[in-house]
Amino acid sequence: MEKFYITTAIAYASGKPHIGNTYEIVLADAIARYKRLKGFDVYFQTGTDEHGEKIEGKALENGQTPQEFVDNISREIKRIWDVMNTSYDKFVRTTDEHHKKIVQHIFQKLYDQGDIYLDQYEGWYCTPCESFWTDNQLVDGKCPDCGREVKKRSEESYFFRMSKYQDRLIEYIENHPEFIQPEARKNEMINNFLKPGLQDLCVSRTSFDWGIRVPFNDKHIVYVWIDALSNYITNIGYDTDGGDDTFKKWWPADLHLVGKDIIRFHTIYWPILLMALDLPLPKQVFGHPWLLMNNDKMSKSKGNIMYADDLVSLFGVDAIRYYLLHEIPFQSDGTISYELIIERINSDLANILGNLVNRTISMAKKYFDGEIENKKILEDMDSSYIEMINSLEERVEKRMFKLEIGSALDEIFDTLRASNKYIDDTMPWSLAKEETKRDRLETVLYNLLEGIQVCAVFLKPFLPATSDEIFRQLQTNNLSFCFINDHKYCVLDPTPIFMRIDSSKKLAEIAANKEE
Ligand code: MSP
Repeated sequence: MEKFYITTAIAYASGKPHIGNTYEIVLADAIARYKRLKGFDVYFQTGTDEHGEKIEGKALENGQTPQEFVDNISREIKRIWDVMNTSYDKFVRTTDEHHKKIVQHIFQKLYDQGDIYLDQYEGWYCTPCESFWTDNQLVDGKCPDCGREVKKRSEESYFFRMSKYQDRLIEYIENHPEFIQPEARKNEMINNFLKPGLQDLCVSRTSFDWGIRVPFNDKHIVYVWIDALSNYITNIGYDTDGGDDTFKKWWPADLHLVGKDIIRFHTIYWPILLMALDLPLPKQVFGHPWLLMNNDKMSKSKGNIMYADDLVSLFGVDAIRYYLLHEIPFQSDGTISYELIIERINSDLANILGNLVNRTISMAKKYFDGEIENKKILEDMDSSYIEMINSLEERVEKRMFKLEIGSALDEIFDTLRASNKYIDDTMPWSLAKEETKRDRLETVLYNLLEGIQVCAVFLKPFLPATSDEIFRQLQTNNLSFCFINDHKYCVLDPTPIFMRIDSSKKLAEIAANKEE
């Protein structure tokens, strides 16, 4: 069985994640479930990034020790991942003893082989980003990443010889066009960062305590990005002696999913670290776009934050999964609002999917008491419909291969739409009026049930609970990817899977709840 190792970025354990931070785990989950459906041996890892000055400060503000603070937040993040029904295999934490030990081994090895050296650092430090900048890098005297104030700092620090590996990395990226996706990000990395030349990276801090100690100098804490990035290997059995069989099975990762803001860390620092450790590079890093609120960043200070658990209580988990997976395009940022969520639920989930399943099962019940076989009384219009069902696997695969998740969902919904059209074209209610057309009527319903069954299989990775519910109502556990001629259906009474929402009523309800 071919293996597939997929990761998300590990989330900062600095606060409750909003719906934007939650997008990535849902995206990763859809891909992981899809790969499992296609027969891959999948390992899906996520978790929390728990060290650093910012977290130390937040814990202090809260009157907690950093460990108490991250224990709570990490638990909350995991709870939200579970609310979203994500099927990760392992939830890792950077405060885990094993991880800390291996990070120390990595630091020691890099030092012993001369890739890390001690020097004096002077520069501008941005605390929220935990990054040092030079005069030239500042934008209007502020941090180029987040635009906030920076402080002048001078400290003794360990440095990593990035420039030593720069040419090898450029060559690797150019010879592996699939490595950085989407392609625009690859060009950005090469032209803006690699070609101008890499500076040695400052990889330790002495100004705070909450982190992993440098093993041979306990004044120093390992730079949070070395600590965080290493999670991808420390948790699958890596050690500096080469690692165990589990590590050999899973590494290199097949896909690192990360947001566009941290693609630089994953396509420059991380590969160079791996080269220094003499390990193969991950096969692909995908920098996904962001979810915005009316084209603005979500933030507490702007008061425009939405949380996944609140949205799930309002609309249900699969409606929110659908929204995230469908509305955030492959390259450009997506946006979210209550109005847009309701619009999507009504137009796609209720009108197209819910309606089709409900109409079909109701007719099967009404005309045949739920028992449907293929009577094979075919007419011309059937062949294009059956062809559409049979091409779904290939159409979805094409999109998934390129990680165009929203378009993969469109392929399924096009097939559902075609099924609704097939009902309008065949008019089962008219066929039901003529006794001589009974076998044709049963054939039409059989074709529709097959269409629904195949769509439900491909919906599994995206809307797992809905897919299970369709299978329950069809009383089948057949997972075939294409139209089969000899199934026997015995469907249950229909239960609506998605209801239309009265938009103004729901919006008023949400507004009233907010005021409480
Ligand atoms: N801890 C680092 C990652 C270390 S990985 C070795 C980090 N954490 S984070 O909590 O800030 O972000 C986690 C992920 O969520 C990142 O990939 C980030 O890009 C993503 N997102 C944060 N806000 C987002 C949106 N508004 N929309 C979509 N993704 C967003 O970075």
